[in-house]
Amino acid sequence: MSSGQSGGKGGTAKSGGKPAGARDMRVKVKKAGKLKHSSQLWLERQLNDPYVKRAREMGYRSRAAFKLEEMDDRYKFLKPGQRLIDLGCAPGGWCQIAAKRIGLEQGKGHIVGIDLLAVDPIPGVDLIQLDFMADEAPALLTERLGGRADGVMSDMAANTTGHKKTDHLKIIALAEAAVEFAHSILAPGGFFLAKLFQGGDSAELLTMLKRDFTTVRNVKPAASRADSSELYVLATGYRRAAREQQAERPES
Ligand SMILES: C[S@@+](CC[C@H](N)C(=O)[O-])C[C@H]1O[C@@H](n2cnc3c(N)ncnc32)[C@H](O)[C@@H]1O
Repeated sequence: MSSGQSGGKGGTAKSGGKPAGARDMRVKVKKAGKLKHSSQLWLERQLNDPYVKRAREMGYRSRAAFKLEEMDDRYKFLKPGQRLIDLGCAPGGWCQIAAKRIGLEQGKGHIVGIDLLAVDPIPGVDLIQLDFMADEAPALLTERLGGRADGVMSDMAANTTGHKKTDHLKIIALAEAAVEFAHSILAPGGFFLAKLFQGGDSAELLTMLKRDFTTVRNVKPAASRADSSELYVLATGYRRAAREQQAERPES
């Protein structure tokens, strides 16, 4: 498997974790009223995060938008006219970037997004508010896309408990469900992109992906906070035939 630190292209990011043009002018949050120390730190980090500022300036709904932008600048998996599924799409940053790159406003391609949370409308994007783990979710997504997908992206992250192992297991469960769904809907040659966390038990998932895709990469975009163990897996070149042969093989 190859692994890559995405280099910023197209003005998305510079090395050192700051977007192009960012300046150092730290804001300190004074302890106010009942604000918990952790909330104070969170607020301070948001206010000082150059990606948050840049996202606001560019009309992106999330700093996560830069992660997708940066990964695609580097690996070019988004293409005009593609049909995509976005799992865990709220508030909509990835949908915005993907919509631009597949040419949704010019009537090309299709995106269906799903999230537990409501998402404000995004022109041309079909949004579903539902738990992806609900029994009916895969069929509903497939019906709304109306055919095979060229890519399945998942930025899903369950609420963290603070217990590292539990949090990791939760994210792996989401990623495994996303892979299963990808198998049911991806067209040959399609891609799969999902959030994982470093240092956990993702070996089985990666083995499965390596069997069914031509290339599997670990990617840590610069826009992903350096102190976070967040990591993405990008699998390209879906080999539907390999998966089908595996399914037909009798169990030993
Ligand atoms: C990091 S955010 C996604 C950010 C998004 N990619 C963007 O660019 O705006 C993770 C999202 O995953 C969603 N999520 C977590 N578990 C989910 C589930 N089981 N079904 C649907 N969405 C889920 C959360 O509600 C949250 O909105």
